[in-house]
Amino acid sequence: MRVIQKLNLLPVEERLRAIQQAGNNTFLLQNKDIYLDMLTDSGVNAMSDRQTAAMHTADDSYAGSETFNRLKAAMKEVFGVDNVLPAHQGRACENILAERFVKPGMVAIMNFHFTTTKAHVTRCGGEVLELVHKKGLLPQSDDPFKGDFDLKELKKTIREYGPEKVAYVRVEAGTNLIGGQPVSLENMLAVADICHEFGVPSVLDASLLQDNIYFMKTREAQCKYMTPKEIYHLLANKMDIIYFSARKLGFARGGAIISHNTELIKSMMEYIPLYEGFLTYGGIDVRSIEAMAEGLYESLDMDYLSHGPEFISYLVNELDAYGVPMIKPAGGLGAHLDCQAFVPEMPHDQYPAAAVATALYIAGGIRGMERGTLSEQREPDGTERFSELELMRLAVPRRVYTLSQIKYVADRVKWLWDNRELIGGLKWVEEPKVLRFFFGRLKEIGHWQEELVSKFKEDFGDSL
Ligand code: F0G
Repeated sequence: MRVIQKLNLLPVEERLRAIQQAGNNTFLLQNKDIYLDMLTDSGVNAMSDRQTAAMHTADDSYAGSETFNRLKAAMKEVFGVDNVLPAHQGRACENILAERFVKPGMVAIMNFHFTTTKAHVTRCGGEVLELVHKKGLLPQSDDPFKGDFDLKELKKTIREYGPEKVAYVRVEAGTNLIGGQPVSLENMLAVADICHEFGVPSVLDASLLQDNIYFMKTREAQCKYMTPKEIYHLLANKMDIIYFSARKLGFARGGAIISHNTELIKSMMEYIPLYEGFLTYGGIDVRSIEAMAEGLYESLDMDYLSHGPEFISYLVNELDAYGVPMIKPAGGLGAHLDCQAFVPEMPHDQYPAAAVATALYIAGGIRGMERGTLSEQREPDGTERFSELELMRLAVPRRVYTLSQIKYVADRVKWLWDNRELIGGLKWVEEPKVLRFFFGRLKEIGHWQEELVSKFKEDFGDSL
């Protein structure tokens, strides 16, 4: 690493004050108050020398920019695809897909939903059906591809609803909310075949595909001798549409929708100038488009692809060996604590994973993210939808942290595990209607956070 950034570790009393001022929502913490930011891997991965150099070559013209031609060349090389619609980030692509395909009363079938994907589908009057294989919801197993679709259920569901009521089938690879778990190539190709058979559009959310490619190459026999490029190309040939967040895939900013099918692309084209910007920048800053193009080339390189999964696996295995309940096997994106097992007595409506996230910030200045009931949206009748898994995610931004920082995280999580009986719940103070986890505010129930601070000082003294 050639560029460094100074980090602050506030004393524990100040961490308590900071999290309470942030409404016990880690999204509302200020970065100056954070020691290790493991909220997300979105837009926070370190850029390479080639990416930052490419940013200086950006062509700012409103229309017909050379920068866009370079992005198209990268897409052609990596995915083999000519048709590219740029959009400002992943959810902008989801907005366009929902506007184009989802009509009231339709369903969008997925292995698992993502927060923003579901919000767009329901906004357009559709419903999300999740058909991840039941192995995907077991917190701990040794199955290498827990993000796989249940193929039997997929066929049955399309038949039951009728293909005309299915807006699209979306494969999320890897699968964010169940612990960054990958989908096998075999399963993805089978999903594409089923879609083809029924005449339903198949969509791949490739935001987390880099990690997924790593897992295919290391866990799936048929991929071992394929190059990453061969896998990307095969997927682009089989799926009708691919979209992604370039805040993740490509380690930059932006997003894109691509397809070999020119008619499909044309049917979404009008939304780009309407919502994003002209067709050759799509709301993305041109410097970021240059970084994205370079980052896409880098996503072919196993040396780059392996960094995240290998650091994550180190953290998961270290904590697992200590007895901390982790989602297993280790997936992509980050390490995930299984908070139903971490604080088993806590009811879902006190948001166990969010509570553990506040506790870990207090214990170490480490910012994680709740991925459980709080990240769900309420049912149309206002009742709470309890999440199948209550996860606290520790994302590992790529090429950012050193292994000693990851060891520090393991150390603080172990301390918290040893003191887990002190962790209490949270309740709403301000609950937004849409994507509430981003900016909602909560209050701790009772004085458990103060007690946690006292115990911390007893064990570590005043200096930390
Ligand atoms: N799809 C997946 C699988 C994602 O993980 C994300 C973002 C999106 C779509 C939306 O992309 O943020 O560029 O609009 N995930 C981030 C996260 C927010 O922290 O997991 P975006």
